[in-house]
Amino acid sequence: MAAPMNSNASSLQCKHGKTYLLYFANHHTDFRVAELVALADMFGIDLPVADLKFLDKECPFFVVHLSSEADAKQLASRSVLIKSIIELWGHGITHEDLFEDLRKSKDSVMSHLMDTASFKIVVDGFNKSLPQKYKVQRIERLTEDALPFSGKIDLKNPDQLYYLLEDYGKQSKNADSVPQHVYFGRWIADGNRNEIQNQEVNKRSFIGNTSMEASLSLLMANLSKVQKNMLVIDPFVGTGSILVPCAYHQAYVMGTDINYLLLHAKAKPSRHKQKTRSPDESIRNNLAGYGLEAYYGDIMVADASRHAMWRTTEIFDAIITDPPYGIREGAKKVGKEEAVTLTPDQRVDHIPQKVEYDLSNIFTDLLNFAYKFLRTGGRLTYWFPVHRANYKEENIPHHPSMRLVSNCEQTMNLRISRRLITMEKIQQYREDESLASQTHVDHYLNSSFRNMYFNVPENQQKSVTTEGNTPDSKKPP
Ligand SMILES: C[S@@+](CC[C@H](N)C(=O)[O-])C[C@H]1O[C@@H](n2cnc3c(N)ncnc32)[C@H](O)[C@@H]1O
Repeated sequence: MAAPMNSNASSLQCKHGKTYLLYFANHHTDFRVAELVALADMFGIDLPVADLKFLDKECPFFVVHLSSEADAKQLASRSVLIKSIIELWGHGITHEDLFEDLRKSKDSVMSHLMDTASFKIVVDGFNKSLPQKYKVQRIERLTEDALPFSGKIDLKNPDQLYYLLEDYGKQSKNADSVPQHVYFGRWIADGNRNEIQNQEVNKRSFIGNTSMEASLSLLMANLSKVQKNMLVIDPFVGTGSILVPCAYHQAYVMGTDINYLLLHAKAKPSRHKQKTRSPDESIRNNLAGYGLEAYYGDIMVADASRHAMWRTTEIFDAIITDPPYGIREGAKKVGKEEAVTLTPDQRVDHIPQKVEYDLSNIFTDLLNFAYKFLRTGGRLTYWFPVHRANYKEENIPHHPSMRLVSNCEQTMNLRISRRLITMEKIQQYREDESLASQTHVDHYLNSSFRNMYFNVPENQQKSVTTEGNTPDSKKPP
C-alpha cells in the first residue's frame, strides 16, 4: 500500500503558505524527519511538526506546508536526503483525480507561467521504471486534459521545470501495476546531494578503515546545525572525515585521537595495494584539497577520556563523533594495569600505558565532556552501536543537562545496528558530581559489543570487570 497523504496535502494554498512536495532519495530513510526538523530549526523555518507523524519512511514523497518558496529553497540548500522540492500543483490517487485537482486548483500565477515560460516536464516513477513511450503519453494526456501549456517546450534550458511523479508503493513491480498516488508540480530546488559525490572518502589522500562515508558525515553536520564561524570538535577524529562537511559549512574544526601512528600517517594504509602511507597524508591536507584549510583548527594526539587539557569550559558549538566500538581492535585509553613509578628522567619521553576502554564508559565520558565543554544550546551528535534484540530507548546514555533531540537507526545486519543520537545541551556547566552522565541500563548485557557483533557464544566470552575493562581478553583483530 502506498503511504497515505498527510492531511490538507492537496490544497495548494493553505493558511500556512504554500504546499510543497518533498521528493526524498531512497537512502538513509530513518533519518528524514530528524534532518528536516534540524534544518528547519537552524534556519528558523516554521515547519508544521504535527504533520511529520505522517512521514512514512517507505515512501519518498512527503507533502509539507511552508510559508514561502524561500523557506523551501533554504531547506533544500542543506539537505542531503531530499532529492528535490516541488511546489505541489495537484495530487490524485489516479491520473483522472490528479487532472480534476489541477483543473480546480489552477490560479492566475499558474496560468501566467503556463502561457509565458518555456518549460519541460519530467515523468518519474517510484518502484517502477517507466518506458519512454509511456512517459510521453502521460505528458500528452496531462497537457490535453488538465493543463494546456502554451509556452515553448525547451528540454535543455527551460524557464520552468515540472514533475509528474507516480508512486507505485510497495506492490510488486509487475508490468500491469498502477500508481497509487500521482503528483504534479513545479520544481523549486534540488537538495544538496551533489556534495555527497564531491566529498566522497575515496577521493581523499588520507583515509582509514573507519572513515565515515560522506553522506553520513554531511548528515551529522546537519543534525548538529553546523554553521559559519562555529567551533566543532571530533574527540575520536581518526582521519577527520566528520570534520570535512563541518569545514565545508565554514565552521572551524578540531580533533583528538589516541592513535599517534594514524594521525602521523605512519599506520598501515587501508587502501588495497598501498604499501606505505605518504608523509603528506593528513587531515589538514585533506581539508586543503577542498580549499578548506582556513577552517583547520588543530588535531592533537590525546585521550578522549581525559579532559584536563582544555582550560576553558563551554568552548565548542558542536561535538560530532563516531567513537570506537571495539570491533576491529579494542578501544584504548590511558591507564595502568599495574602501578609504575617513574624517575623524573624517565618521565620525559615516557609513553603512557593504555588499558581497554569499555564502550559504556566511552559514552559516559563523552556526555560528561559535552556537558563541560559544549556551549549551552550546542549539539552533540554521535553513533551508538546496539544489539537490536536488546535495544530499548532507555539504553541511550543520558545526562540531566542533555536533551535527546533525535535518535535514528542505521541497520548493519539482522542483529546489529547503530543509532545516530543527537542531544542538545540545556543547562550551563557547574561543578557538581550529581550532574554526571548516567547509563541506567547495561545495553551490552555485561558482555562487549564485539562479542555481540560476532555472535560469540556466552561460554566463550571473557568476563567483564566492574570497571568495564577486560584486561585478560585477547586483542581483537
Ligand atoms: C570509529 S574511529 C573514528 C573514525 C573517524 N570518524 C574517521 O573519519 O576516520 C574511532 C577512533 O577513535 C580513536 N580512539 C580510540 N580510543 C580513543 C581514546 N581513548 N581517545 C581518543 N581517541 C580514541 C581510534 O584511534 C579511532 O581512530
